Amino acid sequence: MPATGLDLVADILALKRERNAVILAHNYQIKEIQEVADFVGDSLGLSYQAAKTDAQVIAFCGVHFMAETAKIVNPTKTVVLPDLEAGCSLSESCSGEALEAFLKAHARKNYYVIAYINCSAAVKAQADVICTSGNAVKIVRTAPQDRNILFVPDENLGAWVMEQTGRPMELWKGHCAVHVEFTAQSIEKIREQYPDAPVIAHPECRHSVRLLADEVCSTEKMIDYCREHPAKAFIIVTEEGMLHRLRRELPEKTFLAGPTQECACAECRFMKLNTLEKLKACLETLTPEITIPEPLRARAELPIRRMLEWSK
Ligand code: 13P
Ligand code: SF4
Repeated sequence: MPATGLDLVADILALKRERNAVILAHNYQIKEIQEVADFVGDSLGLSYQAAKTDAQVIAFCGVHFMAETAKIVNPTKTVVLPDLEAGCSLSESCSGEALEAFLKAHARKNYYVIAYINCSAAVKAQADVICTSGNAVKIVRTAPQDRNILFVPDENLGAWVMEQTGRPMELWKGHCAVHVEFTAQSIEKIREQYPDAPVIAHPECRHSVRLLADEVCSTEKMIDYCREHPAKAFIIVTEEGMLHRLRRELPEKTFLAGPTQECACAECRFMKLNTLEKLKACLETLTPEITIPEPLRARAELPIRRMLEWSK
């Protein structure tokens, strides 16, 4: 007989105790995973949770770079990701080799490299400091004034941070395949239907979409904005998993998914690879495990620690 959702949840909770594990989940995970997790949050919140946990095992329900970040700050712990194929199109848009070649070719510029956390350990290892969408403005403001900044890998987030800080930066030409699906036209259309609903967009969206938004912020800050705003309904322009989180936190309010040109909402296929079945299996077998060669891990830890320090 196939296991029911309730059986799976009970098994996951039992395994979690047995393994001394903590389950961390990103806001884009499926509802069932969000509900079984110990902590659900954005990349910044998850980084802090990973850095402070006492658990011996971290089951990271998110994408590869997030689990890798948890391992970088916890070299002696076991970090597992339910599905190793859970990658990120944005992270893919800047490889360690491509960044190394670029920095070598432009050595005269002596870049100060700020890397958005959506990147591999090989890219983090070449950065001076990491940022997330939740702290990017603060990190860029804190960066040394006398250096040329190279911001990798998201040109949309980078452009938004430049607008917010007035600080010029050179931007790597990468983007998130999910967030660029939203268009000014698709968002205008839903706004016509719900003219009183504020539009809240993630900074990975295109400039034309951000221009239509009442607020641009990280997934976690979306919750605070909606909590504090008197409106009853909101249009959420980010991956659709965020709606579960918002509905759980603010059940008295209505959340409408921002549509793309083609679909009623945007889904990150990588985030959706994780399932309860795979979470149970990874707690059982402690695989797939995230491993990173020590010299690379040690080098990648420095800019993450700097970020955690600067964004306190
Ligand atoms: P947040 O850090 O805002 O949760 O964003 C992570 C992400 O992958 C957005 O696509
Ligand atoms: Fe990467 Fe985009 Fe998915 Fe976020 S939504 S994990 S940036 S592909």
